[in-house]
Amino acid sequence: MALLETKNLSINFGGLWAVKDVDFNIDTKEIVGLIGPNGSGKTTFLNIISGIYRATNGTVQLQGDNITDLRPFEIFKKGIVRTYQSSRLCWDLSVADNILMGLYSAHKSSFFDVILRPKKANDEIYSSLQKCMDILSYFNPDLFRHRYELTKNIPHIDRRRIEICRALVSHPAVLLLDEPTAGLNDEETMQMMMDIHKIKEKINDICIIIIEHDMKVMERVPERIVVFNAGQKIAEGVYKDIISDHGVIGAYLGGAAV
Ligand SMILES: Nc1ncnc2c1ncn2[C@@H]1O[C@H](COP(=O)(O)OP(=O)(O)O)[C@@H](O)[C@H]1O
Ligand SMILES: [Mg+2]
Repeated sequence: MALLETKNLSINFGGLWAVKDVDFNIDTKEIVGLIGPNGSGKTTFLNIISGIYRATNGTVQLQGDNITDLRPFEIFKKGIVRTYQSSRLCWDLSVADNILMGLYSAHKSSFFDVILRPKKANDEIYSSLQKCMDILSYFNPDLFRHRYELTKNIPHIDRRRIEICRALVSHPAVLLLDEPTAGLNDEETMQMMMDIHKIKEKINDICIIIIEHDMKVMERVPERIVVFNAGQKIAEGVYKDIISDHGVIGAYLGGAAV
């Protein structure tokens, strides 16, 4: 049984099928790349899996459990965590505080605990902060040294790293990365690729779906690539098969990429 599986997954927006009949699966420890032209439904697909959009038809199963109609925070608690195509950080908070937000919903202390049992609430935050700093120092030691700086003062690549760390601190079973190298130059893209590779060594059993346009990333990071076009899955396979697939060349790669 696949860790995460979609069957006939579809969503309709006012007559347009943004995602149509997508059968997809991913196993523990696997990295799958998602490519396709702009508007082909990649982000929408992740939005359905993470509960932001509700599927019109079809199912999403996690370890055999039907999670299709769960709400985003319920899906998060099941271990599916994501990053977004455009940055969603609090600029006036430090790097550490932004990452700490990834554990916000895991905290048990209530508002009353903060007032009546401050030690308990403090201990909990301290232990969460420790987990966050463990991940950050492993993921990128340079950024760890800047952990108390305001997010607005750090470079774009580091902001993208913060988002990935924030997603990782809850030790997800499934990590969904929506264009993590968007806005990065070639060298930064390579650095980010190496960081993403390290994730699997740190978090056992994690699987990753990564949306990415850069074919250099697609060649090196995922074990398998799924190609979307106009909301449908048009191909699936290893990099070398995908770049020579006529349907993919016509829809996405064009002559130059082959
Ligand atoms: N909330 C929405 N309402 C209406 N149309 C949407 C909505 N979200 C996405 N779409 C449409 O779905 C299609 C797929 O978009 P998207 O998933 O963002 O593509 P991609 O990530 O592959 O570039 C586009 O035509 C987009 O306009
Ligand atoms: Mg997108």
